[in-house]
Amino acid sequence: MSSDLHAAPWWQQGVIYQIYPRSFQDSNADGIGDLRGIISRLDYLNDGTEKSLGVDAIWLSPCYPSPMSDFGYDISDYTDIDPLFGTLQDFHELLQEAHRRGIKVIMDLVINHTSDQHPWFIESRASKASDKRDWYIWHAGNKGKPPNNWFAGFELKSAWWRDETTQEFYLATFTRHQPEVNWRNAQLKEAMFAVIRFWLEMGVDGYRMDTVNWYLKDELWRNNPWHLQLNPPDLQRHIYDRNRPETHGLCRDIRRLLDSYSERMLVGEIFCDDARLAAEYYGKSDELHLAFNFAFLFQPWSAKHFHHKIVEWENLLPTGCWPNYTLSNHDQPRHYTRYAQGTWSEPRARVAAALLLTLRGTPFLYYGEEIGMANRHIARRELQDPMGKKLWPLLPGRDGARTPMQWDSSPHGGFSFAKPWLPLNPDYPVKNVVGQAGDAQSLFSFYRRLLWLRKKTPALLLGEYRSFATTPHDFLAYQRSYNGESVSVLLNFTRRRLRIHLPQLPTGRVLLSTHRGEGEKVDTAHMELQAYEVLLLA
Ligand code: NOJ
Ligand code: CA
Repeated sequence: MSSDLHAAPWWQQGVIYQIYPRSFQDSNADGIGDLRGIISRLDYLNDGTEKSLGVDAIWLSPCYPSPMSDFGYDISDYTDIDPLFGTLQDFHELLQEAHRRGIKVIMDLVINHTSDQHPWFIESRASKASDKRDWYIWHAGNKGKPPNNWFAGFELKSAWWRDETTQEFYLATFTRHQPEVNWRNAQLKEAMFAVIRFWLEMGVDGYRMDTVNWYLKDELWRNNPWHLQLNPPDLQRHIYDRNRPETHGLCRDIRRLLDSYSERMLVGEIFCDDARLAAEYYGKSDELHLAFNFAFLFQPWSAKHFHHKIVEWENLLPTGCWPNYTLSNHDQPRHYTRYAQGTWSEPRARVAAALLLTLRGTPFLYYGEEIGMANRHIARRELQDPMGKKLWPLLPGRDGARTPMQWDSSPHGGFSFAKPWLPLNPDYPVKNVVGQAGDAQSLFSFYRRLLWLRKKTPALLLGEYRSFATTPHDFLAYQRSYNGESVSVLLNFTRRRLRIHLPQLPTGRVLLSTHRGEGEKVDTAHMELQAYEVLLLA
């Protein structure tokens, strides 16, 4: 391997796998996934051989103590583990066991808000004179009314909640149980920075930062303009309650703190539909290492749309900054279902996987996508997600993307010996890890091949991206090049056979394909792509 390859940080070369701890593996038969469950599945993720999936890092959605009003995104103690998930000792062991396998561990950092049960908030709400009053965002309101039109998306109500004790309003823009902290208060900042240090000292490799563009709010409390938007759904332009320019200063401070440790990384959620806004959080390579690019979560199945989003992102990123891509996460319907089309659903999932894993940038996988887990319809009586409950039947909520991992065909899918907290997808007896791991033609085997091929192919890890736009746009063709070596990627987004004429691409041999044998010669000037064919040529 070349020295550049060694110089590139792990989070540029690695594939990051998101685990929703409640749903990955239960170890003590209470129907809820936990840390010991995750430890028992680390070999599945990467045991150093090509039998395992081959991911390089895991991101754990929150597992801190929490009343679980928003399933852990409401934290009541930042420096411990919720008993549902285990103990701090279990976490130590998870970290050790992951590191022993070369798997990095990223924690979820939820520092825009705490739980209303956090001792800081309990103290803050106790009296206007409390030392911690100013640690949260309080407002006297206007003649008994909230100070402005800011909105709580999970409650469909004002984001200002009047508190009995002092008759003032606190701000909470998710559920009412997630009061937002005041980052302009120096003591709060110090306390949060101590939290960030706590896990870094323990050895975690970085953070996925929740709702970064929420951190600071308008000091004049101005109204947001109303604006109806469907995908993603929203009612306002968030000029004043989010996306404040001051947030960048805070990101730089957090980055400096991270940089005082070696090889740690920050990936931040900038929830918005504007890639430009997300790109700004890379700063001058002095803010987040990665700002999530959520474009693919909201993409129709179309080579043209994907092409535009990739080119837009490549062009927006400041020089020296590294892209990233995500197809699914715990907040959106799984992409297998978003792109489902009868018997073509799985071929589409292969095209999507090949795209995610061959673009220039860090891929984020969501647990279960490697076996094609589908979004499950959740009946109203089974809903758990606070947003799902509130918005039913208008919007489906997020439970459908959080169902238990489908390990095998035994009762409860090998996830638990007890009834799981959310029902499994009924397809688990036929769609599960055990069934697919033993089948060389399965989607899981395809992911596994792609992941291991990536690892040994510098052009796929770090290569430049050059696209060959096509008209009509029904397939994608691009090349990744590194140190004089190139890999060409061709992806047919249709069920039609396509006659291809791309003399710009060199004739090559098959590295990996859904339809052809490895090593087969392909002439890119005159060839046909089969329905939903994935073709990687070297
Ligand atoms: C974004 C997280 O991804 C989501 O799950 C959570 O509900 C909100 N932030 C609030 O923390
Ligand atoms: Ca458990």
